[in-house]
Amino acid sequence: MKLLTVVGARPQFIKTAPISSEISNREECSEIIIHTGQHYDENMSDIFFRELGLRKPDYQLEVGSGTHGKQTGLMLARIEECILSEKPDCVLVYGDTNSTLAAALAASKLHIPVAHVEAGLRSFNREMPEEVNRVLTDHISDYLFAPTELAVKNLLNEGRPKSGITNVGDVMQDVALVFGEQAMLHSTVLKDNNLIEGGFVLVTVHRAENTDSSERLRWIVDELINLSKEMSVILPLHPRTKKNLLNQSLFEPLQSTKNITLIDPLGYLDMLRMEQAAKVIVTDSGGIQKEAYFHKTPCVTIRDETEWKELIKIGWNRLCPPQGETSLTETVLSCTDGDQSTSPYGNGTSGKQIVDILLT
Ligand code: UD1
Ligand code: UDP
Repeated sequence: MKLLTVVGARPQFIKTAPISSEISNREECSEIIIHTGQHYDENMSDIFFRELGLRKPDYQLEVGSGTHGKQTGLMLARIEECILSEKPDCVLVYGDTNSTLAAALAASKLHIPVAHVEAGLRSFNREMPEEVNRVLTDHISDYLFAPTELAVKNLLNEGRPKSGITNVGDVMQDVALVFGEQAMLHSTVLKDNNLIEGGFVLVTVHRAENTDSSERLRWIVDELINLSKEMSVILPLHPRTKKNLLNQSLFEPLQSTKNITLIDPLGYLDMLRMEQAAKVIVTDSGGIQKEAYFHKTPCVTIRDETEWKELIKIGWNRLCPPQGETSLTETVLSCTDGDQSTSPYGNGTSGKQIVDILLT
């Protein structure tokens, strides 16, 4: 069986790792890897291939940044060419980015089965580009690998056939478990940034809804400056966020605040180490909400809603909507640990389960 994997954005390099590693252990299947080039900076792309031991992509499509239509359209045309020449038995897509939708659409129109890893997530907010990408991808995919029971329910509610849906748990847990140990042993990120275990808040912001809105971005900056009066704050800055902070003249006020440290995006091992050691994580990232839970670090999600509702239910995560009345500092200071007794994301064998299903 010939599998064709399409990745392009930072979280997808991480999500593909356990599946690619499983495929390479099986004689019955082979993998072709396409990198769309949606993310291209060294610390948004290549570092993850090195750290996670991923094979160099067979195709580098170099699509780069652009408007949604232009970026998705260029990917669609270039992925189609690769599919026509490789003739895979199945195309694997991950998450909810423009790379995900472009690959699913290209394959589906050529009648190649599509497998969607992280199927069924919903925010029910169609203003998010990710929501549009994930809904459309789920509806043209043949194999729907859901990470949670709630994701399965969402797919069934939308009439997707039960026979194509499997709750395999979350692939990000597979990776976080293995690389979390390595991070603990090898990362020097705490020392490099003068941080002590439990002595800082780790913050990431990159969602379009937060960074493209000047009101929400200003709220985030003001609240982080307030928070820094209580605790040290460190922010590895996504390039989108850096660009928007600079455009809105908000970069300098953050950078000049004592107790706030702005750094470049981190590699995966350093990021995991930071997540393990943080007192609290403040984020709008999907992946980091879960990683906070995998490392048992309380999390505050600066969004109006989340797709990972089980974490709110078991008390490891809470929402603090930007622009709202709720104070970020008060929310962070009131964080406590959640329920330790449940395991909503499976048992760390998602990669193996997915490859087993595809082969049978
Ligand atoms: C994308 C995904 C989002 C995902 C995120 C992961 C879509 C619609 N969005 O958002 O779901 O959570 O990736 O990080 O697919 N840039 C660089 N260097 C890079 C990459 C991007 O400078 O290597 C800058 C460019 O100015 C670009 C901007 O970041 O315009 C946004 O990049 P883009 O890939 O369009 O969206 P993300 O915000 O990264
Ligand atoms: N990540 C990283 N370095 C960083 C920020 C994030 O390695 O500086 C990792 C993080 O550990 C997680 C993934 O990138 O595995 C999440 O990606 P991101 O927040 O960009 O996207 P999302 O998950 O929201 O789609």
